[in-house]
Amino acid sequence: MTLLAWDESLETRIPHIDAQHRKLISLINDLDQAVQDGTGGLLVSYVLQELIRYVKDHFEDEEQLMLRRRFPDLTAHRKEHDLFASRLNEIHTTFQDGDALSSNILDFLKDWLVNHIRRTDQAYAAFIQGTAKA
Ligand code: FEO
Repeated sequence: MTLLAWDESLETRIPHIDAQHRKLISLINDLDQAVQDGTGGLLVSYVLQELIRYVKDHFEDEEQLMLRRRFPDLTAHRKEHDLFASRLNEIHTTFQDGDALSSNILDFLKDWLVNHIRRTDQAYAAFIQGTAKA
């Protein structure tokens, strides 16, 4: 399975947000690795819970930033966050019920994060930096 790699397209140029995105990528890679290693459910469960906790903190930070800077598309952005957080909780519940984390789920997490950063996060970052296209 391919691990996520950081590249320039993911840079928002907002240092604490980029640091948080790097951490999210690292947690998803840790999750992937834990599943591949097959070392048992405890580690997978631990990383999944870390991911859920960190996602929640990151989304709150970002939403506060957008609110402070009066980003006009905050509601739509928050909706994407809420849907992803719900999906993560469902994944966690399914995992606790004994289902393994499939490669489809890992692909979903990777694709969602990369697409969200490249499209949705970059839109507010451009607005904040005054580089948004009119
Ligand atoms: Fe960086 Fe909107 O999540």
